[in-house]
Amino acid sequence: MKYTIETHELTKKFALQKGFTDFFLHPFRKDEITAVEDVNLKIKKGEIFGILGPNGAGKTTLIKMLCTLILPSEGTAHVNGYDISKDSGKVRESIGFITSDERSFYWRLTGRHNLRFFAALHNYYSDDAEERIDELLSLVGMEDRGDDRFLSYSAGMKQRMAIARGLLNDPAVLFMDEPTRALDPGAAQNVRKFVKEHITGDEGKTVFLSTHHLPEAEELCDRIAIINEGRIVAVGTLEELKSALDKPDPGLGDVFTHYTGKEFEKGAAPKHVYPGRRRMMGGGRPRGMRF
Ligand SMILES: Nc1ncnc2c1ncn2[C@@H]1O[C@H](COP(=O)(O)OP(=O)(O)OP(=O)(O)O)[C@@H](O)[C@H]1O
Ligand SMILES: [Mg+2]
Repeated sequence: MKYTIETHELTKKFALQKGFTDFFLHPFRKDEITAVEDVNLKIKKGEIFGILGPNGAGKTTLIKMLCTLILPSEGTAHVNGYDISKDSGKVRESIGFITSDERSFYWRLTGRHNLRFFAALHNYYSDDAEERIDELLSLVGMEDRGDDRFLSYSAGMKQRMAIARGLLNDPAVLFMDEPTRALDPGAAQNVRKFVKEHITGDEGKTVFLSTHHLPEAEELCDRIAIINEGRIVAVGTLEELKSALDKPDPGLGDVFTHYTGKEFEKGAAPKHVYPGRRRMMGGGRPRGMRF
C-alpha cells in the first residue's frame, strides 16, 4: 500500500426532491446535484492533509464518502488499502471521524457513559474499555469532567469529547470536518497543538481535515487542496500553492480567491445556499431541497 488514502475519479451526485408540480409535469425527469466530481487524491501516511473551499463546495460530502457514511455515485477510493465501497467494515475499523456536530452524542448521559457506549460499538467492553476511556479523557484534558452530563459541557469541552470518541479505536487515519468550528481562539489553538504534537507527531497517524480557518490550514497542513463546486482545483504545499500565483508575497487567502474566484470571507458565507444552475442535471430549480 503506497498511499493511505487514494481516490480515483470519486464522484457523488444527490437526487433532488421534486416539488409537487414538477412531479406531475415532468414525472420521469431526474434532477441531480453533483456535490463532488472526479476527485483524484493521493495522501501518504503521517500527512496532515487539509481541504479548503467555500460553503457547499463538497468538503463534507467527500469526507463522508471516505468514511463510508455515504456511497459514491462513481469512482473508487481506498483508505488504509481497503475499498470504501467493497470493504466498508474494514475501512470503518481503521478510521476515526470527528465533526463539530455534537448532536451525535447523548446529552443526558455523562461524557464517560457516552464514550462507553461508543466503545461498545467498536467491540471494547469492561476493563479494556474503561482503561482506554481513562486514557483518552486525560489525553483531551477532560479527566475531571468525564462524569458530568454531556449537556453541561461548553462547546470546547464537547469538541474534546468528539476528539476522544474519534480516537477510541486507535485509528490509523483521522477524518476531521471543521474540528475547531465554534471553539474560542484558545480552545482552537489547543486542538491544533494536540493534532500536530500528539496525533500526527507522537502517533504518526494520517489526518484529513476540512476547515474554514485559513491560519489553521497554514499552521497545520503539510498539503492543502482547494475544492470549488465539487472539483479539486489545486493541490500542494502552502509554498507550492503560493508560488503558482503571479503576485508578490501572496497569502493563502489570495490562493483561495485565485482558484475559487471568491473572497475568502464571502466564499465562506455565501448569500444563498442553492447550487448554481450550471451544476444541475436535468435543469429546473432545485425545489424542495432540505437544509
Ligand atoms: N443529502 C443531500 N441531499 C442533497 N444535496 C446535498 C446533500 N448533502 C449535501 N448536498 C449538497 O452537496 C453540496 C456539497 O455539500 P457539502 O455539505 O459537502 O459542502 P461543504 O463544502 O461541506 O460546505 P460547508 O462549508 O458549508 O460545510 C451542496 O450543494 C449541498 O447542498
Ligand atoms: Mg461541510
